[in-house]
Amino acid sequence: MTIPLWYKNAVFYQIYVRAYKDDLGTGFGNIRGLSSKIGYLKELGVDCIWLMPIYPSPLRDDGYDISDFCNVNPQFGTLEDFQALVKSVHENGIRIIMDLVINHTSDEHPWFKIARSDKNSPYREYYVWSDSADRYRDARIIFLDTEESNWTWDTEAGQYYWHRFYSSQPDLNYDNPAVRQEILKVMKFWLDMDVDGFRVDAVPYLFEREGTNCENLSETHDFLKEMRHFLEENYQDRILLCEANQWPEDVRDYFGDGDEFHMAFHFPLMPRIFMALKQHDFSPIQWALQKTPNIPKNSQWCIFLRNHDELTLEMVTESERQWMWDAYAPDPKMRINLGIRRRLAPLLGNNKDLIGLANSLLFTLPGSPVIYYGDEIGMGDNIDLQDRNGVRTPMQWDATPGAGFSTAEILYAPIISDAPFSPEFVNVKDEQNNEYSLWQIIHKMILARKQHPVFGSGSFRLINCGKPAVFCFERSGLEEKFLLINNLSPEGQKVKVLLESDCQRLIDVLSGMSFPLHQQELTFHLEGYQFLWLKME
Ligand code: GLC
Repeated sequence: MTIPLWYKNAVFYQIYVRAYKDDLGTGFGNIRGLSSKIGYLKELGVDCIWLMPIYPSPLRDDGYDISDFCNVNPQFGTLEDFQALVKSVHENGIRIIMDLVINHTSDEHPWFKIARSDKNSPYREYYVWSDSADRYRDARIIFLDTEESNWTWDTEAGQYYWHRFYSSQPDLNYDNPAVRQEILKVMKFWLDMDVDGFRVDAVPYLFEREGTNCENLSETHDFLKEMRHFLEENYQDRILLCEANQWPEDVRDYFGDGDEFHMAFHFPLMPRIFMALKQHDFSPIQWALQKTPNIPKNSQWCIFLRNHDELTLEMVTESERQWMWDAYAPDPKMRINLGIRRRLAPLLGNNKDLIGLANSLLFTLPGSPVIYYGDEIGMGDNIDLQDRNGVRTPMQWDATPGAGFSTAEILYAPIISDAPFSPEFVNVKDEQNNEYSLWQIIHKMILARKQHPVFGSGSFRLINCGKPAVFCFERSGLEEKFLLINNLSPEGQKVKVLLESDCQRLIDVLSGMSFPLHQQELTFHLEGYQFLWLKME
């Protein structure tokens, strides 16, 4: 059975295979380990898994440096393990999308090895070469902390090669039709294995043109449309999710006329949720929503609080960035590039009410939510680990040594060891057994969201109740109407809300309580950080 637009109501869950579950005792999570946790994902209630890269890779950028597009990293398992995973995910009513990294390969990819050693090989033209490092000077450097230039001299090749990320990730040359064909072949390979789509990595940078910043070029859009066309022609119900860390007007173009991406991450909204929470004022969120253009009917925003990267501060002004760093990353070790390398729970002071509130926004603002693995239990981070590894530590399943993640002595990364985030305090088992845990709150929100498709596709209307700290809005459509009230302040608030429509009864869908109404003007006494999801009948 096909369910068109399924992604508009779906709750996504992002998984790093290496970190999730090791069932072989190697210290590395693997695909079979993940398969053994599908029951957990089903219980949590998520609809679609986003699998971070599982391809063969030297792992110098955690798998975003691919050395073979059509295979699985042997550390994680085999293609058979992967097929079994897809099958079992589907049998449990869950979908699965995987990362597709198309901008670059690893320098250990055979294409690059041949390209650098043989000027006359057809693979030479798979990459972008130059005799000088002067071309495309208007392109910014993304990994500011480690890279000095987007060009790196290659002694073997006797030329510079172009890379937007680490120098170990040479960019593919999209002017070469053979490269474009290769990527469609890679898509086919995985789609034929029944994956439900791709989170397409780093899409703005496919083409380069002199005199531009080499981002969001029309040539790039043309190829992305070709990818969408290929998907639609040959498969049903599959999706493309766009990672373009850009301003809303630029991201808008990645939806095309409903003929490019199905979904795109909303990068500018994310930091503004954190601003609003700390400033006790919803105006940063309102600003981001006002800046958000309309998108085609078959398209959807993907909203998130955290992911595997730093909390990026590219889509804020310089003063906002400084404010965010001061507020959320007081220790310079917490900063990387233009962002903050911390997880959700530590960012929010491990305050369960505040984390619940942040999730309430994630689940009720327009778009489909993504949960980053471990954030559903409030996992911590480790800023002593390099790069973004501090937010990629082993999943904490229980309080045993190895956290139920692995029985090995040495793990790919240490488990969080300090209170209040060590497994003794934060683990799935305890969270599931405790009626009042964060896991239970998030679980309830997932279930409620799934029962009410208005959250996925309804319209949004701000309701001004006169207090900056109380973010009140309505979602309506599909014959449903919700009043959402979020107190962004730790202090209690009394607010009056004037309902426009004729409503007889309010049902609090998170607690199940219902209130008959006798008047249009309602008074709420909110506790600090309280949130209400009220269905209007
Ligand atoms: C994306 C990924 C990031 C990776 C980069 C280069 O931004 O999210 O983890 O390092 O692309 O592939």
